[in-house]
Amino acid sequence: MEALKKVLEAGLKAIQEAEDLPLLNEVRNEFLSKRGKVASLMSQLRELSPEQKREFGQQVNRIKVELQQAFEAQLSNVEAAVLKLKLESEKLNLELPGVDFRVPLRHPLTIVQEEIEDHFMAMGYEVIEGPEVELDFYNFERANIPANHPARDMQDTFYIDESLLLRTHTTAIQTRALEANAHKETLKVICPGKVYRKDDDDATHSHQFVQVEGLVVGHGVNLANLKHTLLSLAQAMFGADRNIRLRPSYFQFTEPSVEVDVSCHVCDGAGCHVCKQTGWIEILGAGMVHPHVLEMAGFDSEAVSGFAFGCGVERIAMLKYNLDDIRHFYQNDSKFLKQFNRFE
Ligand code: DAH
Repeated sequence: MEALKKVLEAGLKAIQEAEDLPLLNEVRNEFLSKRGKVASLMSQLRELSPEQKREFGQQVNRIKVELQQAFEAQLSNVEAAVLKLKLESEKLNLELPGVDFRVPLRHPLTIVQEEIEDHFMAMGYEVIEGPEVELDFYNFERANIPANHPARDMQDTFYIDESLLLRTHTTAIQTRALEANAHKETLKVICPGKVYRKDDDDATHSHQFVQVEGLVVGHGVNLANLKHTLLSLAQAMFGADRNIRLRPSYFQFTEPSVEVDVSCHVCDGAGCHVCKQTGWIEILGAGMVHPHVLEMAGFDSEAVSGFAFGCGVERIAMLKYNLDDIRHFYQNDSKFLKQFNRFE
């Protein structure tokens, strides 16, 4: 009986002191498993007389039940303590200051340029680029612009040396694309990029600006295709209700050449200060690629024809966003730039 009492006390003490799950398991093994201390008490039954057996057996069972209950109780204590610790370690401090979270802003010119690119990519055009430091050859010669043309004047163009310049228009990308694809039957490209002119900066002029050129070459490409394409562009930029009109014009690299007006998106053609009371706004130049330009690049101008257009991204952005000064785009005033970005 003395031994029983000792086992009970030792067991209860060990259970009380076991403050984590592995320890508690060890204690359970020590006392309550098949080879544990309680089981070994049972094995002593054999040595006792029948009366003693009964008494001893009941006592051992009582000890077993008591230790089991103590074990269960301690197990739930330990589990609760473990959970509490875990919760505390994962506690959020809601009073900490937040992390400054900035969405990268896109420049309004990038936004408009990408809108134009997206519009044409959806129609199967490929977007291509070219060098800003360009050969006179691709910028002028291949665009059919003769040596005595005023655009070639030092007054108008930034020359680096006699044959090298800062490209004055994205038509330079067009002439490169033509040459690179002369072996193909068709070509459908959009050519965005920065261009440079020796202009004095004012509200409507900038010595550097952005153009997007479009070029399609193939069998039977005609002026009606060009008109349809430009109408789709005007509507993508200024709304589904817009109309366009073509006026005869002159560019060295197209024949015939046209100037393209879009019906005013502000007054819907009635006349306002934006369209200078005419109802129309000029947005770009275009035409059928001059046969000589095709031939110089290596195409057979008897077999294929092409159309091209070129527009100024600043001009379109100024009209879309109702801006009155091109210099806003280049002054990096964050208050100005932030207006064009919405969280979408
Ligand atoms: N290169 C012309 C300019 O800078 C714009 C232009 C006009 C491009 C007609 C074209 C075109 O491709 O067909 O003013």
